[in-house]
Amino acid sequence: MAKVLIIGAGGVGQVVAHKCAQVPEVFSEIVLASRTESKCKKIAEQISRPIKTAQIDAMDVAATVRLIRAEQPQLVLNVALPYQDLAIMDACLETGVDYLDTANYEPPDEAKFSYSWQWEYHERFRERGIMALLGSGFDPGVTNVFTAHARKHHFDSIEELDIIDCNAGDHGQPFATNFNPEINIREVTAKGRFYEAGAWKETDPLSVVEEFDFPEGIGPKKIYLMYHEELESLVHHMPEIKKARFWMTFSDNYLKHLEVLQNVGMTRIDPVLFEGKEIVPLQFLKALLPDPASLGPLTKGRTCIGCVVNGSKDGKPKRYYVYNICDHEEAYREVKSQAISYTTGVPAMIGAKMMLEGKWRGEGVFNMEQFDPDPFMQALNQHGLPWNETFL
Ligand SMILES: NC(=O)c1ccc[n+]([C@@H]2O[C@H](COP(=O)([O-])OP(=O)(O)OC[C@H]3O[C@@H](n4cnc5c(N)ncnc54)[C@H](OP(=O)(O)O)[C@@H]3O)[C@@H](O)[C@H]2O)c1
Repeated sequence: MAKVLIIGAGGVGQVVAHKCAQVPEVFSEIVLASRTESKCKKIAEQISRPIKTAQIDAMDVAATVRLIRAEQPQLVLNVALPYQDLAIMDACLETGVDYLDTANYEPPDEAKFSYSWQWEYHERFRERGIMALLGSGFDPGVTNVFTAHARKHHFDSIEELDIIDCNAGDHGQPFATNFNPEINIREVTAKGRFYEAGAWKETDPLSVVEEFDFPEGIGPKKIYLMYHEELESLVHHMPEIKKARFWMTFSDNYLKHLEVLQNVGMTRIDPVLFEGKEIVPLQFLKALLPDPASLGPLTKGRTCIGCVVNGSKDGKPKRYYVYNICDHEEAYREVKSQAISYTTGVPAMIGAKMMLEGKWRGEGVFNMEQFDPDPFMQALNQHGLPWNETFL
């Protein structure tokens, strides 16, 4: 029985609040805080259990410390934006409260994400006797646990890892992003990067394309090589991996719009002067694009995210695939969010549950693959993200 403070009332925050509320034996009290309190109240109204709400600017460490001291949660679930990670970790350190997030830190003025900033907190968290669990979403998150599960149950050694993220859904809009447009576009327009033979190799954005035949009727789709944060932690914690790549599907329509927006400078993250005022084009674009939350009732189809693993067991080569399929409309019926937020919010709740039940414990800063995958894999089946595995 624990009290949790959820920070961030966007698409993911909405799912986390719903899913924590479904598990009262673990999450006995829930506080939902965000920059705009009205968004918290709107979510709280959808949930039959009482959810307390609060206003917080999480960049303000002193204000977050005051909120934590006033509410006394056992754990802070950070589902605001990656820019807030370090400030919230500072507040957790000061108050001695456990921390969890779903995306690694990214400085607002540079499209670069890396665990290095958060790994630097390890000693301080350890000395304070508290735990931080990083990247407890789907990718990163479940994909790390899938890899740990493959390693534990099916391989003596993993040689190659391909994480493949497919959104086979359709929201019917000419152009929209399924989660925060600024974060999404920064990620997609960045250079691709993969790990091979002990070194990182760069590719031009979306320049490496292959085809993958997705299971359960989704069928073949083009997949594009990108850089994704779980590659960094997985090759760090599983140094046996010789090659690790991340792939994502995009519709031709999405790529066409993105190319034009890039060509005209609308995806720039540096400020430009407009009518005497500085604006950041990508932030202006975010204001024009549909709010990802508004796509919930419109989105149909399924997501399929999983890991293809090559390696060996008992001296024999093996190729294995573990994945989850999530239906946008079913997710919306349950928590009023489409599958992108659902597949992130459910693992955030499960990660918090693992920590609060003592199944995953440690002092310091941890990634998902460092813990026993079994209780997490079991919880995925119980809480709405069942998985399947097959040998290819
Ligand atoms: N691991 C994964 O699989 C995965 C997948 C998707 C997303 N994510 C991560 O999940 C997180 C949430 O994504 P989302 O789609 O829910 O984004 P979102 O819809 O844009 O929501 C972000 C929320 O954070 C709040 N926020 C922003 N700045 C804040 C601040 N300074 N103080 C307090 N609250 C603040 C926003 O408040 P206002 O609305 O008031 O501005 C908003 O409610 C992001 O970090 C994203 O990268 C992870």
